[in-house]
Amino acid sequence: MKIAVVGSGYVGLVAGACFADLGHAVVLVDNDQEKLAALREGQVPIHENFLPELLQRHRGHSLTFSDDLDEAVRTSAVIFIAVGTPPTEQGEADLSYVESVARSISGAVNGYKVIVEKSTVPVYTSNWIRKIILRNATAPDEFDVASNPEFLREGTAVTDFLYPDRIVVGADNERCAAVLAEIYAPLTDGSYYKRQDAIPRPDRAEIPPPLITTSAKSAELIKHASNAFLAMKISFINAVASICETVGGNVQQVCQGIGTDSRIGPRFLNPGIGYGGSCFPKDLMAFRAVARECGYDFRLLDEVIRINEEQRRRFIRTVRNALWTLRGKRLAVLGLAFKGGTDDVRESPAILLVQSLLQEGCQICAYDPAAHARAKEVLNTTVEYANSPYEAASEADAVLILTEWEEFATLDLTRLHAAVKYPIVIDGRNLYDPGVMTARGFTYYSIGRAVATPENQSVPVPARKLN
Ligand code: UGA
Repeated sequence: MKIAVVGSGYVGLVAGACFADLGHAVVLVDNDQEKLAALREGQVPIHENFLPELLQRHRGHSLTFSDDLDEAVRTSAVIFIAVGTPPTEQGEADLSYVESVARSISGAVNGYKVIVEKSTVPVYTSNWIRKIILRNATAPDEFDVASNPEFLREGTAVTDFLYPDRIVVGADNERCAAVLAEIYAPLTDGSYYKRQDAIPRPDRAEIPPPLITTSAKSAELIKHASNAFLAMKISFINAVASICETVGGNVQQVCQGIGTDSRIGPRFLNPGIGYGGSCFPKDLMAFRAVARECGYDFRLLDEVIRINEEQRRRFIRTVRNALWTLRGKRLAVLGLAFKGGTDDVRESPAILLVQSLLQEGCQICAYDPAAHARAKEVLNTTVEYANSPYEAASEADAVLILTEWEEFATLDLTRLHAAVKYPIVIDGRNLYDPGVMTARGFTYYSIGRAVATPENQSVPVPARKLN
């Protein structure tokens, strides 16, 4: 099938590359000439597993790049809109890019087209797209608008796309639903998975995935409700972790105890320094705003957001408890990305914490396997960047783990111990067993678990002169 994908950001680029891998002819449309030139030259603008392989495989053949939206619409049967929907100051989704693309599409319709929202948008957006296209004099039987939300996570975007838990197609008539079902047929009939060159199946993936057909409005709500529910799960366990800290419980044991209930499940129950990224914070605000507009006061979401912010303040309190005063303390920060496996620092809790610690007068030496370049764009120049966790830890008053990179869960603890000034680890992602850390000589602070101190040692407080 001939497909146009408008917008070459995270979702557009991954969707375009994956549609090409399913055997479709894809044109990826963007108005950023520099980005298009880079993509044509073979550059991969985001850090994403398997994306370089897919771009390499299809670039110039079944995946082309263009700035000509009219031409792309004329030559395609299906047009996916995957442009940005940034938040306004009030927290609503700014839909001006979606509107402008819809208007441009209407001028180029030359036969039946299916126009699909792929960006995360509030309920009613498909209605608006339809109205805009009709207003621009396209005949009603020449197009349909569908919603096909994406559930991919950064870092595993390609495998999430090709091995999804489900595919949601929101279409208000059978003709339009059939077109989308055909696009995803290689996944839903399992033929993609039999191919020798298929991207490898990740653990836990069930194949083939089910296709869930709903109304367009339901599909729009499914996307916002899914992200809100996942964020709620994280804030819930973070709240439970806070209680554990007060009563001397162990949140990992609590997680195991509740996560094994199949109605609850163990995933997205990892306590930490709060969720971040380009999706959860923005989508919660947008869902909150949509609900308010529809007359429902969704205060549960306010509480999810409040707990998330409080989690960072609690972490700063933990650092203070470990070090007494903060001014002048040298801290090794392991992790700047908003989560492991990505170089994305948007709304990263690690970045927000580094900014707070800088304000408190700390010296920061940071290491992240992928996010230095992006972090430098947002952090002030006093932050030092190290080439390894051990270099970051050199002469540090404490080591802070802020991102759940796999590399940080398998540190050489002997080397780390030798590098630091004081063997104190404050782990915002619970990557270690407290018993292991104390056996290796560290005083270990984590989330929702008691402070662990090596035998016969009280919690050390490094002394440092105030400026
Ligand atoms: C999220 C959703 O998981 C995707 O399903 C969705 O498609 C995507 O948003 C989107 O709307 O585009 P993503 O933002 O890539 O994906 O990241 P997640 O893996 O969901 O992590 C979000 C944040 O929650 C990270 O800061 C992570 O560290 C944190 N997190 C996650 C926890 O603190 N605990 C957990 O148990 C899981």
